[in-house]
Amino acid sequence: MANIVITDVCNLHCPYCFASEFVNKEANEISMDAFRQAKEFILSSGCKGLGIIGGEPLLHSAFKEILEDIIYDGRVQKATVFTNGIHCDEYLDQFSHEKFRFLINCNSPTDTGVRNYEKLCGNLELMIEKRYMKNRISLGINMYKPDFEYEYLLKLLDRYHFDNLRVSITVPNGSTKRGSAFDDFRRIKPRMLEFFNVLLSMGIRPRYDCNKLPSCLFEWEDYRFLEENIRQVMGDKKIHPNMAEVVRCRPVVDILQDLTAIRCFGLSQYTKADIRDFRNLDELKEYYRRTVDSYGCNTVYHEDCTGCRKRLNGKCYGGCLVYKIDSILKMQEYSEELMAKAGDME
Ligand SMILES: C[S@@+](CC[C@H](N)C(=O)[O-])C[C@H]1O[C@@H](n2cnc3c(N)ncnc32)[C@H](O)[C@@H]1O
Repeated sequence: MANIVITDVCNLHCPYCFASEFVNKEANEISMDAFRQAKEFILSSGCKGLGIIGGEPLLHSAFKEILEDIIYDGRVQKATVFTNGIHCDEYLDQFSHEKFRFLINCNSPTDTGVRNYEKLCGNLELMIEKRYMKNRISLGINMYKPDFEYEYLLKLLDRYHFDNLRVSITVPNGSTKRGSAFDDFRRIKPRMLEFFNVLLSMGIRPRYDCNKLPSCLFEWEDYRFLEENIRQVMGDKKIHPNMAEVVRCRPVVDILQDLTAIRCFGLSQYTKADIRDFRNLDELKEYYRRTVDSYGCNTVYHEDCTGCRKRLNGKCYGGCLVYKIDSILKMQEYSEELMAKAGDME
């Protein structure tokens, strides 16, 4: 799958947003023509799904037309709309089509303002209780500071009986100052564990997005703390691996309004490529794997990673690649020099 970034415009200014290189800067919207080109590019690899993202995608001035294009395109079996939920009431008829899925990013009333939060709650009620869409909706939260709020979300999860929640440990935007991922993980961990424990006690499973806490930062006390509640949710299975993992990721690929692709928002500044230079999405992903991902395990951002077997065995990046982007760029440069020298010798 890949996502099409249909607009830069957003109604919110989320303090953690990693798309801030684009969002609310130039008010660029994708044209219908470029939208269709991006869609063809994605589908030409045999992909049957795509994502619609922004900015806030629902603010695109021809959003209804975009939704209808997707509805009438029989090749698209699944389209995920990434939204903050505040304008969902305007598109309920189109959203009722079964091919749409929704990842609703639920910000706290403190971050969005009470009116926006109430609008989000009202829209969830409409989508779930009036249009019966619950099985196509996932809620998500961004854990972006050591005292992140979560209480507001528990009420929504409980009211609609959700049994899982997408959780993101936010990654730094390419332009903000990056410290060590370990330090960021350690800062967020106490609150995150407390939150996971509450979720698990409610029968709700946290599902990490890409920037997972590496298993080396999870200690036995942490498992013990969660164990009883994990059993309740996961039955007698072993502690669910989702709680702490080796961390690798794959190119997500977001296609911007001018048909420039980026590997993911976190690496947007460093991975721009024109989709017209590639035959299809598979070829583009291969390019990102070769030029970015292949350095994921032979770079470190912390001395603790140096001797790590999981890293040496190619299993763990240690966290989001943006933390290591400077080393990755150096490795790219070095390998290009070597290739050029090899070329000269031929
Ligand atoms: C950039 S937003 C755009 C779509 C929409 N406005 C929304 O709020 O979902 C898309 C997704 O990026 C995620 N996101 C934003 N900033 C992030 C960050 N710094 N780290 C990880 N995920 C982030 C949000 O959770 C959201 O699901």
